[in-house]
Amino acid sequence: MVGANVNGKPNYLAVGAISVVHNHPTVMMVSLTKTHYTSKGIIENETFSINIPSVSQVIETDYCGIATGKTTDKSEIFTTFYGELESAPMIEECPITCECKLIDSTKVKYCIAFFGEVCQLYSNDQNFDISHINPMLLSLGEYRSITQSESLGRCYKIGWNYEGARRKGIKPKFLEKEEFQVVGVEDVGKEINRNHREFWIKLRDLGEKVQNRDASHTLEIHMYTKELSEKGENRFILGNELSKVENIPEGLVHITIPTQKYAMFTQIGNYDNFMATVQYVFGEWFPDNKKYERVPLAPDFVWYDARYNPRSDKSEFDWYIPIQEKSSSI
Ligand SMILES: Cc1cc2nc3c(=O)[nH]c(=O)nc-3n(C[C@H](O)[C@H](O)[C@H](O)COP(=O)(O)O)c2cc1C
Repeated sequence: MVGANVNGKPNYLAVGAISVVHNHPTVMMVSLTKTHYTSKGIIENETFSINIPSVSQVIETDYCGIATGKTTDKSEIFTTFYGELESAPMIEECPITCECKLIDSTKVKYCIAFFGEVCQLYSNDQNFDISHINPMLLSLGEYRSITQSESLGRCYKIGWNYEGARRKGIKPKFLEKEEFQVVGVEDVGKEINRNHREFWIKLRDLGEKVQNRDASHTLEIHMYTKELSEKGENRFILGNELSKVENIPEGLVHITIPTQKYAMFTQIGNYDNFMATVQYVFGEWFPDNKKYERVPLAPDFVWYDARYNPRSDKSEFDWYIPIQEKSSSI
């Protein structure tokens, strides 16, 4: 992991493109995408740190390679200390760290190769015994240790567990919502191919023509059938609730969602973190829950209201998942 101070706070990112380029003095090269938050800090302070993680830091390391300092404060993930240079944040939990003074840099396509002279090396093992340090290795997209053959986790994936662990504190609200009517724009297909912005614009343009709609919130509904699920697809409707159904304008569809009990999870913060919530809810919350299970194929939906602001870290929206008591718990 490479560290730099950005806007007065430590920021760390995962780096595979790293090499020794000179001995006596030792000069290291790290190649970072120009637009990374950390790159900004290295240019500003002309210092950076290199932190070699041990196998016990696999989740945190990968998380630093998934989340960007532009939207996520990564300064609290580790304990930071500073050395001689005073502006290169280093990670206390890493078995080997060093602080580097920037001596040169060169642009290579979308990256900047930063050359740093190592000023001071810090290690919790004075003998640099590799079996003791147990560094984490990266090979073909998998994190590995030098002592065991099995993978410690997949890169760009295992780090989501960090968010998941933080989400352990999240508790859903349980509520029943009476049957309701929605009018909105529709799409059937794979979530990954969907341009959500396009549907928001379409709803904004067509929605004005809808009578009796409640514009205080917008619902993003996901509907499923066995056939669609087998293809990895769903039916998506972005729309508004109606107090009374009358004259549905062309280009919009009307659906009725029956009375249902839900577990409602509130997502706070940047939308990018929502995938971690999804992973936590289906990977841990439901499997660990002794009482409730998701109602197979019933629609779930996201509720956006005035709290939602995609540009703010304080943004909030609610995710409603249909639940029923597990048959074994009744
Ligand atoms: C295992 C791994 C290795 C990575 N190697 C590099 C790298 O060598 N150079 C780079 O620019 N980004 C690399 N990344 C991506 C950055 O770590 C990632 O985009 C990070 O979120 C950027 O953080 P920042 O915007 O806070 O600086 C890597 C990510 C992972 C998971």
